Amino acid sequence: MNIIFLGPPGAGKGTQAQRICDALSIPQISTGDMLRKAVKEGTPTGLKAKEYMDAGKLVPDEVLIELIRDRLSEEDCQKGYILDGFPRTVPQAEALEGIARIDAVVELNVPDDHLVNRLSGRRVCLNCGATYHVSLLQGRENCEKCGEKLIQRKDDAPETVLNRLKVYHDQTAPLIDFYQGKGLLQTFDGTKGMEEVYQSIMEALNKLS
Ligand code: AP5
Repeated sequence: MNIIFLGPPGAGKGTQAQRICDALSIPQISTGDMLRKAVKEGTPTGLKAKEYMDAGKLVPDEVLIELIRDRLSEEDCQKGYILDGFPRTVPQAEALEGIARIDAVVELNVPDDHLVNRLSGRRVCLNCGATYHVSLLQGRENCEKCGEKLIQRKDDAPETVLNRLKVYHDQTAPLIDFYQGKGLLQTFDGTKGMEEVYQSIMEALNKLS
């Protein structure tokens, strides 16, 4: 199954995508993680992306479309995948139609006032992509999965979060109507607990398979 996860920054796309990919044995394709890796390694894509990401802006469509086209042609994508963070604009969604057949779009709906708190408390592992909230870490500073030191993302600073939310509403939210019109959209209440959100998504996906 080829699935898109859609929702504002901090809605829980990465948290849920990681767990569901483990359950379904399919890869999680997070464009945010791919870009952060490219920035860390100083590749040409990373050098282009860095200033946009630090400011909470979207990286240009052509960079992302190329990145996704290459990634989806890899062997591990043949049995399905979750796209976490792509597409994020209507031109990206239109380009994706020429690259892949999508079976479902999972939208996580969370109001803006929840998101600033979630993101300012988020800690991430740049090595394996695991995500935590500081309120649940009980002082731990290293990743439970791989032991790497956890960090706070630069774009999780409160003023950058507000800009990312604006960018989401202006450029990404139109995809809700785009996929609704194609009969692919399923919306979930992302303010519920992580376990409840996970169970609801799995139940809906099981009905499709
Ligand atoms: P990206 O990394 O994709 O960031 P994002 O979409 O802003 O999403 P986040 O990772 O911030 O949030 P999430 O929904 O995954 O939430 P999470 O599960 O971590 O993109 C970063 C940047 O890269 C962009 O700004 C852009 O510059 C660039 N980029 C990427 N893709 C692009 C594209 N296609 N086009 C152009 N540019 C692109 O959860 C957040 C926190 O909440 C965590 O602490 C978590 O523990 C907690 N949490 C999760 N679920 C719950 C819950 N149910 N209850 C309570 N807490 C919860």
